[in-house]
Amino acid sequence: MMPWEELERQCRACTRCGLCETRHQVVFGIGKRDASILFVGEGPGEQEDLKGEPFVGPAGKLLDDMLSIIDLNRENCYITNIVKCRPPGNRDPLETEQNACIGFLRNQTALIRPKILVCLGRIAAKRLIRQDYRISSEHGQWEERGGIWMTAIYHPSALLRDVSKRPETFDDLLAIREKICSLHILP
Ligand code: URA
Repeated sequence: MMPWEELERQCRACTRCGLCETRHQVVFGIGKRDASILFVGEGPGEQEDLKGEPFVGPAGKLLDDMLSIIDLNRENCYITNIVKCRPPGNRDPLETEQNACIGFLRNQTALIRPKILVCLGRIAAKRLIRQDYRISSEHGQWEERGGIWMTAIYHPSALLRDVSKRPETFDDLLAIREKICSLHILP
């Protein structure tokens, strides 16, 4: 396991996959480096690629609102993505790109040692919970793995496209709040 400084330095200089050729900035992650709660999205979009920070575009605005419902924000949790560089045209990150990048997330998770890990959307859930994860039927369910409580909720971009998913996500957020309380975690 690398310490934060070395990990971030290597990530910012990474050329392990083709996304390094089209990126403007590596989007390493943001938040509290010893947070109890880790949120993992899919990969940077256009705005994130330009700014170097995760979830700063329209989906990010919605994520901020979702977090505030349960007293979370960019300072008291940690937010990052499966891949740290933008897939061109916002396509899904390829398996090979995910494989090249996942070590950075694993190292981040080992350093943070979160109690709760929330996958934002299908891509993160499939990669981190189970390859055959079905977000539409399994979102909001919990399983403990290696001392970390894992769950997935709809990606904020999906909630922008389809507002009918928002009530279920509200319930999932309240369940995250309850998990925080039952584990006696102070955000
Ligand atoms: N979508 C993601 O999955 N991650 C971001 O950082 C921005 C949009």
